[in-house]
Amino acid sequence: MLEKKVKSIVLAAGKGTRMKSELPKVLHVIFNKPLLGYVLDAVNNTEYVDENFVIVGHESEKVEAFVKDNYKNAKCIMQCPQLGTGDAVNKATPYLKDFDGYVIVVCGDTPLITAETIKNFVEFHDNNHADLTVMSAIFENPKNYGRIIRDKNNKFVAIVEEKDATPEQKAVKEINAGIYCINWKTVSDAFSNLQNNNAQGEYYLTDIVKWAVGKNLSVQSYILDNNEEIFGINSKVQLAEATKILNKKTLINLMQEGVQIVDPDTTYISPETTIGADTIILPNVYITGKNTIGKNCKIGPFSHVRDGAIIGNNVRIGNFVEIKKSVIKDNTNVSHLSYIGDSELGSRVNIGAGTITANYNPISKVKSKTIIKDGANTGSNSVLVAPVTINEMASVAAGSIITKDVEAYSLAVTRSPLRIISNWVKMKIEQLSGGNK
Ligand code: UD1
Ligand code: MG
Repeated sequence: MLEKKVKSIVLAAGKGTRMKSELPKVLHVIFNKPLLGYVLDAVNNTEYVDENFVIVGHESEKVEAFVKDNYKNAKCIMQCPQLGTGDAVNKATPYLKDFDGYVIVVCGDTPLITAETIKNFVEFHDNNHADLTVMSAIFENPKNYGRIIRDKNNKFVAIVEEKDATPEQKAVKEINAGIYCINWKTVSDAFSNLQNNNAQGEYYLTDIVKWAVGKNLSVQSYILDNNEEIFGINSKVQLAEATKILNKKTLINLMQEGVQIVDPDTTYISPETTIGADTIILPNVYITGKNTIGKNCKIGPFSHVRDGAIIGNNVRIGNFVEIKKSVIKDNTNVSHLSYIGDSELGSRVNIGAGTITANYNPISKVKSKTIIKDGANTGSNSVLVAPVTINEMASVAAGSIITKDVEAYSLAVTRSPLRIISNWVKMKIEQLSGGNK
């Protein structure tokens, strides 16, 4: 338990010029989830934070729509124009007027930060009864970051931005990670006292350190062990790097839990997917979004699980199969070349190669469900036009297009009868040669 309540401010108003995109930086995704979503989830998963303020500006409607749809405990606050990180936090002060607790400030473009780290950070602040705690890290190449400046007694006294730093200050390897824990009652006055007389003409959030030191308040730095967590995304190159880092970590966790990943270099699995022990993931598998996959399954090679899949035990998802928003129960096989979307498959179902659940009507834009009950099977190349149910133990003949429900234990065939025309090829050859032998 902490001594005080905690709220957060997430900075997400910047344009992200280096992304070279019409989409605001914080809405770029890693495994379907926007960067801002990772940050808000980490903050909320600490279970300390009851309310988040998201500072929006550039393309604010889009960012606001994402926040509103996904986070009930978050409120967006407009910052226009964007006059710096200090000005951004200052925009939240009217909403925190008599708040006597801690405010965590985080940036919306650092998706690798974990709830555990934020939790330890806030607990550190709380245990030390600090007024202000800044997360820092030691970087061999500290370029572009603000530097943590200490006096001769090693006391943390200021943060200096690289653009304002002297050569001596630039040599400092301890950097500002951009995550702060603020005892709001004692430090919030700093925000109305910030100046913009610096190299960038901005109101720097980092200047609250100097302000608090000047008031003899307790200012601490919390040195982070794992530098990867504060990796900030400024370009699409860094977005790809962050995806790799997150993926690697996810695959290692899964392997430690008993999942066999044959080729981690070509396997991508979102961190929101859980997989049971002894499931084998073959090369070139891409699993994105939130999914649950059971034990002893075999997935891949070349499978795509797109989001919302709930897969039981002993299930086979084979090559060139795409699964989206579907439940697949134990001992079912979808082995080759199929699309299973918005579906419920029972157990011991066998899906023949090339089976398609036709779930989407592009005119009405409605998506419908396909239900395939226990023990049923579909022949190769069948199309199941949803909404449709294939009942227990029913069989769909290869090449059939199913537009009506199929009763249990029945066969559904929509093929035209097979005709064999004897010597048809011979006849054609003779016609072509015009009888000139
Ligand atoms: C900031 C810190 C720097 C630190 C680094 C860590 C300042 C002055 N500097 O620098 O010490 O090492 O983070 O990553 O704070 N934003 C707004 N409104 C604004 C300006 C920025 O919401 O007016 C948001 C951005 O969208 C971004 C975050 O604040 O999410 C950080 O801004 P950015 O310009 O990236 O700061 P840095 O230069 O990286
Ligand atoms: Mg910047």
